[in-house]
Amino acid sequence: MSGPRVLLLSGPNLNLLGEREPAIYGTATLDDHVAAARAVAEEHGIFLDHTQSNRESDLVEAIQAARGRCRGIVINAGAFTHYAWSIADALSAFDGVVVELHLSNPNAREPWRHTSVIAPVCQGTIAGFGGLGYQLAILAVARMLEKTAL
Ligand code: DQA
Repeated sequence: MSGPRVLLLSGPNLNLLGEREPAIYGTATLDDHVAAARAVAEEHGIFLDHTQSNRESDLVEAIQAARGRCRGIVINAGAFTHYAWSIADALSAFDGVVVELHLSNPNAREPWRHTSVIAPVCQGTIAGFGGLGYQLAILAVARMLEKTAL
């Protein structure tokens, strides 16, 4: 198969999904979400890479490494969403589709979560649909890539 490669990026504390605040984030683990995302990716002939890190610099480096290699990025940047300008800059330098993803709806939560510094450099945002968001985000990237191929 010679389909496009897409990077799924998971930020800080998402490694704790399944145990972390299940009333907000659900009981599925990050591995469960990656598997669901990968199944949708495969249906669309997309190779899905996944990286999780609690370090801002690792996420910046993963985005840089995706340049010229991946056609799209789906990013749940966790709390970095709200203040990590280095991630916004790295995404800005990435030439492809970028989808911001959240399990919860940050706009319906504490005021400090209402700002996303990465939203302005993303094609769009999927938030508030729990684990379904992983599948929706991959579908969005697949559709955007199909559109650009036309
Ligand atoms: C989150 C929302 C963020 O505000 C929070 O810091 C997270 C998870 C989400 O997926 O709902 O770590 O990105």
